[in-house]
Formats: sequence, C-alpha cells, structure tokens
Amino acid sequence: MKKYQEILLKVLKKIKPSKKERERLLSLAEKALEITNEVAKAYGAEAILAGSLTRDTWLKDKEEIDIFVLFPESLSKKQLEKVGLEVGKKVVERLKGKIVIKYAQHPYVSGILGKYRVEIVPCYKLKSAEKIKSAVDRTPFHVEYLKKNFPPDLSDESRLLKQFLKANGIYGADAKTQGFSGYLCDLLVLAYGKFLDVLRNASDWKPGEIIDIEGYWEEKDYPRLRRMFKGEPLIVIDPVDRNRNVAAAVSATSFFKFKKLAKEFLKKPGESFFFKKKEMSLTVKQFRSIAKKRRTKFLFVVFEPPEIVPDILWPQLRKTTERLKNILHQYEFSVHRYACWTDEKKLAVIMLEMEVWELPSVDEKIGPLIFDVKNSERFIGKYKNSKRLINGPYIRDNRWIVEVERGWKSAKEKLEDTLDENESILMAKGIPNFIAKQIAKKFKVMDEKSIERLIKTNKEFGRFLKEYFKMESLA
Ligand code: UTP
Ligand code: MN
Repeated sequence: MKKYQEILLKVLKKIKPSKKERERLLSLAEKALEITNEVAKAYGAEAILAGSLTRDTWLKDKEEIDIFVLFPESLSKKQLEKVGLEVGKKVVERLKGKIVIKYAQHPYVSGILGKYRVEIVPCYKLKSAEKIKSAVDRTPFHVEYLKKNFPPDLSDESRLLKQFLKANGIYGADAKTQGFSGYLCDLLVLAYGKFLDVLRNASDWKPGEIIDIEGYWEEKDYPRLRRMFKGEPLIVIDPVDRNRNVAAAVSATSFFKFKKLAKEFLKKPGESFFFKKKEMSLTVKQFRSIAKKRRTKFLFVVFEPPEIVPDILWPQLRKTTERLKNILHQYEFSVHRYACWTDEKKLAVIMLEMEVWELPSVDEKIGPLIFDVKNSERFIGKYKNSKRLINGPYIRDNRWIVEVERGWKSAKEKLEDTLDENESILMAKGIPNFIAKQIAKKFKVMDEKSIERLIKTNKEFGRFLKEYFKMESLA
C-alpha cells in the first residue's frame, strides 16, 4: 500500500496545479464569466462555468476555462450558431485574447490568453437533459449534478486517472483517440472512489459492463441496455440522462487497453505508467528488414489532408481505407492488414499491406452446370465472342468454363486507376466528400521503395509504422 501511495504522491506533485495556479485560473474564470454574462445579456442568454474547473479536476498542463452560454430555446439552430460566435468573439476581444474558431457539433469560439484557453460554447437552456437538441445541452446538467454529488476530496483521484489515461493515449472522447472523456473520469471516480479503486474495478470489467450510478435501471433491464448501446464495450449511464451512454466513444481497444494497464499497475506499480516516453521512430533499415521478413507487399496512398477538424478527418480517412481495401478485394487482390495515418496538416497516408498484389494474366471463369440450359446459353453468349477470351468455352466436371485475359494484373495499377477520377466519381465509389476532393486534386500511390524517403524525413510517420508492426498485446 505504501508503495502505491508514494508513487501517486510523486505523480500528483507533477500534475496537480499549485494552490496559486488554481486560484489564478479560478479568478480569471470569474472575470471571463462576468464579461460573458454582460455580453450575453443583450441576447437574453446567461453564462455558466463548466468542465473540470468546476470540480477541481483539471491537469496542470490543461489550463482551460469552459464557459457555456445558455440561449433561449426559441432560437433556431442557425441563429444559435451565429449569436454564439458573436458573443464568443466579443468576450475574447474584451479579454484581449486571440480568437480561434473551433468545431465540435457546432462551431464555437476559443480564446487564447497566454497559457490559458477560454472556450465559449453556446447551447440551449432547457428544463431537462432528456429533451436536449444537441449533445452540448447536457453540459449544464453535468455541472449541476457533479456540484451536488462529486466529493471534493476525490478531485486528485480524478487527476490521477486522467493523467494515467493520457500517458497511454486513451484520454479523450475525440474520433482519433476513442477513449475516456474528462467527464467520464469524474464519474468513474464518483462511482468507485479512489484512483486505485477505479483500477481494481476496471481490471474486472467485462465487455458490456454497465455502471449506473443513479440506479435508473434494474438488473432485468441490462440485456435491453446492451442492445441499446450495441457495440459499445463500456456503458456508463449518464446521471442526467438515463438513455445516454457517457462512455459511448470508448472503443474496444481503449477498453481492453485500460483493463490491461490497470492490472499491470496494480501488480507492479511505477511512475512510468503516468509519463510515457515517446516511442522511437522506425528506421528505413528496420522497415526494409521487417517488410522482407513478412513477404507481403505494401502500397501507400499519399495525399494532402483536407483542412477539416480532426473529428471529421479521422472517420473519413478510416472509411476511405476501408473502401480501398474492399475495392481491391473485389479484384482478387486480397489485403492482409491496413491502417491510415495523418499529421492533420500536410500529410495523409493510407497503408495497404497486400497478401496478393499480382495475378496471372489468365483468369478462369467457372460457369453453370451443363444441365442448366438457360444459364449455360447466357454464359456462353457472354464470353464466346469476347475480346478477352483465351480458351473455351470448355467443360470440366459438367460445368462450362472459359479462360479469359484478366483485366487488372497489378494491385498498384488497379489502385491508381480507381483513384484517378474526379471528385464526384470518387464519391460514387464510396470515398467520403472531403477526402474525395483532395484525392481528385492530387495523390500518389507509393511502394516500399518510394516510401523510404518519407520514413526518413517524418518521425511521426515512422512512429506510426512502428506501432503497426508491433501491435500492442491487449490480453
Ligand atoms: P471537456 O472536454 O473540456 O471536459 O468538456 P472536462 O470535464 O473539462 O475535462 P478536461 O479536464 O478539460 O479534460 C467540457 C464539458 O463538456 C461536456 C462535459 O460535461 C464536460 O465536462 N462533454 C464534453 C461531454 O459531455 N462529452 C464530451 O465528449 C465532451
Ligand atoms: Mn475542460
């Protein structure tokens, strides 16, 4: 026990803002809130503080002030967006900060004031969290709920949990991370108690785990809940909305990663769980030797990513990868594994590790049984005078067969042909809009040799490859 406490205390020293830092953030928050309320008044709106600063659970390196501006329900969504940005801009101007527009479900203003961030998020003022119009409308209810229910002496436990998750790449509900949000961390601590209790419980989690703090549901409802939240390994019923899973973003990988880390920490605690060193990047030499050993072949589609928020970019990139894999499959080029990566600025890469990348020029098409006269005629009619016919139609095992020239013999060529289209044709092939637009402008299909330069010059890409080749064990 002592061993744990020593470590956790050391960690806290590094991640917990000092008393002075806390006071400074809170007083800035009060000031920002006052200004926001002054500005918001003209719109019939009122502002509140939200997020981790209202429960004293923020990390030293995330000095963020979340302000939610509650507008009357009578505004349309469009109007809300417009006045929300107006209010945000005025407030940041008065605070003499730098205005940045951010995009969540709706755009909102984020102000940069030195090391501080002020997020000004518009939402609707509603009577109950179960009748919300958009996800952000729940936030004021979260604030109220945790104000009432979160024990102040557990705030450091939430900080430890956040840092533990962060160091291991699973903190955040965004599309890239697919992990645990700040609010979820606060709830887990509320549900289980101390950081170590959260770990103890998490190590026993089973997929489909249900945590229902307010006890809205009975045991007999659990199968129904699991159907409601199908595909979501962790189900944490939102205390302010019994039909909402706070952990909806947690992917199966994040779920098992946390479970495994929890077990490992409990067995052999260490500070290193909280501060991960950056992985070394893969060298060209390593890449060559791994690729040679695997005896697969790599194809990389390289292009400039569209200028959209990561929460849209990543799902679109993943969908594109999935589509390309399926298209190649249709032409019998089977893909072993695949992945995608982007720096979210200059470079997007779709990687396809091919099991079959070249096929013979002869292709045997197996037709119907000779007794099936109607379909036999159709089959023969289709191939008899085809330019692609090499042999036949002949018979084997009472079936009509032809040998034809294969259309696509190389996966690389097929891939290039698939992508060498305009935006609307790419979209018709199932490539999502923003990516289609970019690929229509410019793309390159690279192989092992031509990708080497990129591995040399881009450390982050090298790290992505490293992770790809050394899939972390989740069990
Ligand atoms: P934040 O992402 O800033 O979370 O969202 P946080 O609780 O302040 O945690 P950290 O310390 O900054 O990381 C602010 C609030 O918006 C709501 C929650 O109520 C959260 O407290 N929110 C945000 C959600 O309900 N779901 C989300 O995915 C994100
Ligand atoms: Mn926050």
